[in-house]
Amino acid sequence: MVPRFKPSLGWSEFYAMLKSNTGKVEEFEQAFAKKFRAVDAVSFPYGRSAQWAFLKAIGLEDEEIILPAYTCSVVAHAVTLSGNRPQFVDILPDNFNMNLDDLELAISKKTRAIIATHTFGYPQDLERLEKIVRFAEEKYGHKVWLIQDCCHAFGAEENGRMVGTAGDVAVYAFNISKMITSIFGGMLTFQDQALANKVRAWRDANFRKAGWMKGIQRRIYMIAVYVAFNKIAYGLTWWLQEKTSLLNRFTKSYHLDGKIHFPPDFLDQMLEVEAAVGLAQLDKYDNIIARRRANSVWYDQHLKRKAGWVFPPIIEGATYSHYVVRVPERKPVVTEWAAKGTHLGELIQYSIPLTPEYLMEENDAFPYSAEASLCTINFPLTETPKTVKKICRGS
Ligand SMILES: Cc1ncc(COP(=O)(O)O)c(C=O)c1O
Repeated sequence: MVPRFKPSLGWSEFYAMLKSNTGKVEEFEQAFAKKFRAVDAVSFPYGRSAQWAFLKAIGLEDEEIILPAYTCSVVAHAVTLSGNRPQFVDILPDNFNMNLDDLELAISKKTRAIIATHTFGYPQDLERLEKIVRFAEEKYGHKVWLIQDCCHAFGAEENGRMVGTAGDVAVYAFNISKMITSIFGGMLTFQDQALANKVRAWRDANFRKAGWMKGIQRRIYMIAVYVAFNKIAYGLTWWLQEKTSLLNRFTKSYHLDGKIHFPPDFLDQMLEVEAAVGLAQLDKYDNIIARRRANSVWYDQHLKRKAGWVFPPIIEGATYSHYVVRVPERKPVVTEWAAKGTHLGELIQYSIPLTPEYLMEENDAFPYSAEASLCTINFPLTETPKTVKKICRGS
């Protein structure tokens, strides 16, 4: 079975995991900042912790924060759990990103921050985003924070400009499904040293050092990941995921459907072992992205275009966290491909304002987000060109 995604883990990450790793967190922060053109980077145990901590550190509370309706639900959870109110904006049907015309209409005197997610690795129009923020600040006479969510878009570029370099702060996440992984983990990057210093100081005052047991648990988890994504074992992983609730039980503390919650360790500092793995992954970043881009282009040119299928755009500077095709009916397609030996992803399967935890009266206010949540399938991007060619031949 070809997995829907596979972390690019090899001997270097295994070796990093086994070594004693003092000082790796600072080293990872500095290397990450350099790689993604920031003046500084501050690490966290999860992407959601990073986003939550930023809102707390700048002192936003009981304010309105705009974000896309179609993104990972934990982005909205971070807003809610920081004591603020999410306000959703619909997406564009073609590239899944927040519709900037709708964003302009949604901004009011209550808006204090905008979270711009570069969904599936497609960069937003940075110049327009900045203009919208400047206009709102002049109109309402207060600061409007611009937060770039780059969790799908490490290093994506728009007109030669890297996405994370716009706005006040950029958020990254490193769970095993992301571009590069540090087992778990998150990062904020800054263009302003004073703001980075303020957030780091807030983190150090409010996040605790994790105990040694967590280091062991993370290593066991990582070994399990090596095994689970092994070519031979993945058939069993897929079967356990699809036919039993066993794997969901293990991930319950990380993600719970229908509940606004964070994992119990969301206030731990990033572990040295996580940073060491992240550093090893950073060395591979260029190759990882090159493969994702080449595979996306290959799918675009060789995957059979069935009736009703809408292919995703191929855009210079995009980094393709997922290769997302819209199909009229998702389930039969996923079942057909599983029978052929390829596991297709189904992300993102919800529109946040339609989830039980955020259900709003105006259910039809975000039609493109609702539509995307029902019809998207993702083809594997982390495989070798040989496997991707085989997938296309079987289409
Ligand atoms: C777009 C986006 N933002 C934020 C996050 C949060 O990252 P984490 O799971 O590390 O909290 C994710 C997670 O998968 C994500 O996809």
